[in-house]
Amino acid sequence: MDEVQYRLVSEADFSAIKDMYTQLNTYFYQIGYRLPHPENVGDIWLDSFRRTLGRFRNVFIAEIDGDIAGFMLCRLKRVPAYMGGVLVGELSDMWIDSRARRMGIGDKLSRLAMDWMRSQGAHSIEIQVLRDNEASWKLYERMGFQLEFRVGRLLWEDYDRVSTEAAEGEGTARQL
Ligand SMILES: CC(C)(COP(=O)(O)OP(=O)(O)OC[C@H]1O[C@@H](n2cnc3c(N)ncnc32)[C@H](O)[C@@H]1OP(=O)(O)O)[C@@H](O)C(=O)NCCC(=O)NCCS
Repeated sequence: MDEVQYRLVSEADFSAIKDMYTQLNTYFYQIGYRLPHPENVGDIWLDSFRRTLGRFRNVFIAEIDGDIAGFMLCRLKRVPAYMGGVLVGELSDMWIDSRARRMGIGDKLSRLAMDWMRSQGAHSIEIQVLRDNEASWKLYERMGFQLEFRVGRLLWEDYDRVSTEAAEGEGTARQL
């Protein structure tokens, strides 16, 4: 197997990374993602950043023997003045082909993205990792990332169920 080559994305890669994002998105739902599941998610995803590539977004590609083995999408955002007004870098989406995992590609792509965001003046780097994505969290933790936020989501069915259970519990307690 040839060594891994790293480079910035080009338009010729769009179709391949769109397919990879679609696999990543499917994986998200397998490990607990609960937002709606749009059709053509790969196209919508690509459209969300292709016009700002090289400015606020970048995609780094890993290639083995001329085939794309993985990608990393990162983005820069400015936080509001009351949060310091600084530029913050975000490692958004990464997918490594299952045959190319545990070769250090995810680590290298992350560092390339972080180096670029640092060169653009990012104050710090953020990631969002689904709760059950152990592999991803381990990769980032060993770079020095620290847990800062917990993000929760309330679905109305859970809200209604829990509220009903609580009301029933109170009713039972009153009868005792
Ligand atoms: C998570 C993912 C990107 C890791 O990519 P990778 O190229 O295999 O990772 P690396 O080889 O660079 O691993 C670096 C370190 O991360 C940790 N790590 C990576 N995969 C791991 C796993 N499956 N279990 C435990 N630790 C893991 C290890 O510490 C590893 O170092 P080691 O191999 O020396 O032990 C890859 O498994 C993947 O594409 N998963 C599905 C999509 C996903 O979760 N994307 C990230 C969220 S957007």
